[in-house]
Amino acid sequence: MSEIDDKTQAVSEKAVSSTQGQGREDGGSGGVIILFFIVGLVASLVVGWVLFPKLLYSQKKQPIDFNHTLHNTLVGNGCESCHSFREDGSYSGVPKLAQCIECHEEVQSSNPEEIRFVEQYVKKGIEVPWLVYARQPDCVFFSHAAHVKAAKMDCATCHGPIGESESMKPYQQNRITGYSRDIWGENIGGFKKNTWDRMKMDDCSECHQKKKVVVGSVQTQKEGCFVCHK
Ligand code: HEC
Ligand code: HEC
Ligand code: HEC
Ligand code: HEC
Ligand code: HEC
Repeated sequence: MSEIDDKTQAVSEKAVSSTQGQGREDGGSGGVIILFFIVGLVASLVVGWVLFPKLLYSQKKQPIDFNHTLHNTLVGNGCESCHSFREDGSYSGVPKLAQCIECHEEVQSSNPEEIRFVEQYVKKGIEVPWLVYARQPDCVFFSHAAHVKAAKMDCATCHGPIGESESMKPYQQNRITGYSRDIWGENIGGFKKNTWDRMKMDDCSECHQKKKVVVGSVQTQKEGCFVCHK
């Protein structure tokens, strides 16, 4: 045996005797530490990826569950029947009750959602307080005409499949910033799979740079800020 082997032998004998002295079993502590490490790692992953997003966002249901798939087949003019441009080029955005009344003056089915809509809003003449997923902070200026008319972009590029859905997803509000999750980002780690997963300042700029939008090329200069800010 070499000198080194003798030393390690001596050290391990000492270690054994000291753990025995504390009445513990030999070799167990290493395993326990690894186990603690794994449990701790799993727990922090669960907190970080599952619980934290749940705590960070409060969930609200839309006042009425609107079915896009059904209505797209019923109206004559596609999306524009309900989401249209005004004479002055501004976007009307969320439809008003007046756009529903021609078909929903009276309840016409046994669908509980339609009954609720007609009884609680149409009959009382109260506008539905829709929650807008894409709502930006007040300081941001956004023009649909520039993107939809001039640049001919699809609604889904920025909104995802909402316009083709059978049911309105819950509105998720960030408890700290007050912003909708559609602005702040679907993924807590900041990964972006789809163009519509997030719509923060950098996301607007990224596309402007890619498409070489003239206004976008000056966005690092001071006056460039006022392209998107009021
Ligand atoms: C062109 C006619 C038409 C217009 C305009 C229209 N609807 Fe409807 N809507 C219908 C028909 C038809 C049904 C199907 C009723 C049934 O279930 O048989 C329906 C069903 C519904 C339902 C229940 C169905 C479901 O799946 O949830 C709701 C809620 C509703 N409409 C809300 C609205 C709102 C809000 C507007 C205005 C933004 C609107 N509708 C505009 C014709 C229309
Ligand atoms: C019959 C009326 C009607 C038609 C037709 C319709 N929508 Fe809607 N849409 C609504 C109502 C009502 C809402 C709820 C308002 C909200 O959530 O902001 C809505 C919400 C939306 C939103 C969510 C906006 C946000 O950020 O909250 C998008 C995106 C949208 N519609 C796209 C479309 C597209 C694309 C089409 C055509 C394929 C379409 N819609 C056709 C009535 C309609
Ligand atoms: C370049 C991205 C982009 C495209 C393309 C786009 N939108 Fe939007 N949309 C937004 C943003 C950003 C907002 C929030 C505006 C705000 O808060 O001032 C918004 C808001 C809305 C709203 C909420 C109502 C409101 O207050 O204006 C509706 C409804 C909507 N969009 C429907 C559509 C439809 C339908 C299309 C396709 C015809 C479309 N959008 C195309 C980015 C886009
Ligand atoms: C997927 C691409 C894309 C995204 C995302 C996008 N834009 Fe744009 N934007 C464009 C293009 C393309 C134009 C140039 C349109 C034209 O031809 O005039 C434009 C033009 C503009 C203009 C100039 C309008 C004018 O009057 O000339 C403003 C303001 C603007 N965008 C704001 C925004 C804001 C704010 C956001 C984010 C909430 C955003 N954009 C997201 C592509 C995009
Ligand atoms: C392409 C459009 C665009 C341009 C250009 C732009 N912004 Fe923004 N900015 C946004 C949007 C959209 C938001 C809201 C979403 C967010 O917080 O990222 C925002 C948010 C902000 C906020 C946070 C405000 C809040 O209420 O949270 C500040 C501060 C800001 N911008 C400053 C600037 C400055 C300074 C410039 C010029 C160097 C600039 N922005 C240029 C689109 C733009």
